[in-house]
Amino acid sequence: MNYEKFRTKYRNILVTGGAGFIGGALIERLLKFTTSKIYNLDYMGYASDLSRINLLRESSLRHILLKTDLSNKNSVYDAIKESSPDLILHLAAESHVDRSIDNPDIFINSNIIGTYNLLEAAKDFWRNIPDLKKQNFKFHHVSTDEVFGSLPDNGKFNESTPYDPRSPYSASKAASDHLVKAWNYTYNLPIILTNCSNNYGPYQFPEKLIPLIISKLIARESIPIYGDGNNIRDWLYVEDHVDGILLCCNEGIPGQNYCIGGYGESTNNDIVSTICDIFDQKSNIKKSSRKLISYVKDRPGHDRRYSINSNFISKQLNWHPNYSLEKGLELTVDWYLNNQEWCHKVVKRANYKGERLGTN
Ligand code: DAU
Repeated sequence: MNYEKFRTKYRNILVTGGAGFIGGALIERLLKFTTSKIYNLDYMGYASDLSRINLLRESSLRHILLKTDLSNKNSVYDAIKESSPDLILHLAAESHVDRSIDNPDIFINSNIIGTYNLLEAAKDFWRNIPDLKKQNFKFHHVSTDEVFGSLPDNGKFNESTPYDPRSPYSASKAASDHLVKAWNYTYNLPIILTNCSNNYGPYQFPEKLIPLIISKLIARESIPIYGDGNNIRDWLYVEDHVDGILLCCNEGIPGQNYCIGGYGESTNNDIVSTICDIFDQKSNIKKSSRKLISYVKDRPGHDRRYSINSNFISKQLNWHPNYSLEKGLELTVDWYLNNQEWCHKVVKRANYKGERLGTN
């Protein structure tokens, strides 16, 4: 990754959702490896947390939190004015499928209306900036492979897979992708769109599968697997995803979409068993924690399989993941074992007790 090139092109960066899991990893990287000023637009919702950013010395100098709700158009215009961005990295989204089943409203407002407001404010800003800044400017929208629907036993998603979202969450992300593409086709706004597979790693709020299981293992509570556990996800270590996003900003073609997967396909049964084994080995537990696994009622509309073909980004931008699933899982289990206080803090703040969500 050519950080030098990045530094000269992008001095002011507006990151939306920078207090989230992927946004936080991205801001950490930007603070460590660039000299850019980072404006972090985040409404500080239930899963938002700034611990990892606040740990960095650079944060007091170059990280500015703009506590803003994307569904409030005027505030979004104000945030763009204040940050005068050379680059917008749009990660803010409600992202938990189970919560979208219980309460779709929030997803429509945040993911669709929020993206629309940001696009409008970005377009009006971009149209009125000097030519050089205009040429470099990019709006990078971070999306998900869930917009493509569910795969049978074979085949993979790629850049030309048709959209077929099935949950309120994925439908709201698909709508936001369409808006982003429309603002490129109609207004020439220089966008980049990335669709990633399931991210995991440190600092992920413990409602998603991997951190939830680790939290349950630590608490010695029953581990819920939905349905028969043969659903497949393609796991991507968050730092590899950050590499992909930054490469796209540096070298990506405006108007292009890129798929980023982790070469980490696994059934839920396999990944849960592997995590149990890693956990037992690290915690010196003799009787297998697999006995904590219990099969519970399936998620409504549960997508069977996701898998990404990352050939395009690999060939075009020379992106390759650095973390195998085994390595990434080990680092992740280690991190959660060593950061139990962080977990207690965030779940308490969100009033989340590890209960089942999305059975509505
Ligand atoms: O593919 C990318 C997407 O991955 C992102 O866009 C979403 O924001 C992200 O939440 C994720 O969606 P999933 O629904 O795949 O992630 P989740 O961690 O909720 O579930 C992963 C798999 O594990 C899924 O098949 C459901 C299953 N599961 C999940 C939970 C929370 C269980 O079996 N038990 C559980 O308790």
